[in-house]
Amino acid sequence: MDNEQLVRTVEAMKKYAVEKHVPIMEDDGIEHLTALLREQHPQKVLEIGSAIGFSALKMAEALPDATIDTIERDQERFAKAVGFIQGSGFKERIRLYHGDALEFDLELLDRSYDAIFIDAAKGQYERFFEKYEVLLNKGGVIYCDNMHMHGMSAMHIKEIPRRKRTMIRNLSAFKETMINHEGYETKLLDIGDGIMICKKL
Ligand SMILES: C[S@@+](CC[C@H](N)C(=O)[O-])C[C@H]1O[C@@H](n2cnc3c(N)ncnc32)[C@H](O)[C@@H]1O
Repeated sequence: MDNEQLVRTVEAMKKYAVEKHVPIMEDDGIEHLTALLREQHPQKVLEIGSAIGFSALKMAEALPDATIDTIERDQERFAKAVGFIQGSGFKERIRLYHGDALEFDLELLDRSYDAIFIDAAKGQYERFFEKYEVLLNKGGVIYCDNMHMHGMSAMHIKEIPRRKRTMIRNLSAFKETMINHEGYETKLLDIGDGIMICKKL
């Protein structure tokens, strides 16, 4: 594998994300996530919300034996992800799918993921969980980023901008669901913007 190719691709992705306002994970968030994944050592990872393929590429780099399947609904971002991954040196281990994850045909995916990373529309996390958790192996882990919603999850509802309230309510409800879920052991880690890890029992 050509490390220069990887470094060049990561730099180009970051530059594109800034120029086009694409919300990719920040350095500390991705470092924490990949550290957790290295500890878990999954062979098959599913990501909901690829954007331009940045976190998929960083996960593939951190997990040399793993394959990463990732779904993105935005056509332009998906096309960009395809281009970036093609030139990254990691195209054999990253499969990019275009579509709305809430309507996606599960038959197109594997049935046995060891890890699922949810990083798409924040207000829909519970729906993603309900749809995709059937694909997760026992002992597998679901990772969710941005659980603190840039500090908004700790604010009183009236302090939160009106247009974000439903999303914050949904995210809090999802947190509660997972904490009380008998089939999962859930931890909320106070790192980055809050990473929730839910292990399937
Ligand atoms: C925060 S970005 C993902 C960033 C990416 N994981 C990274 O760090 O490189 C969220 C992405 O999820 C996509 N998305 C939102 N809802 C989706 C859905 N229902 N199905 C598929 N993709 C979705 C958005 O278009 C957006 O590109």
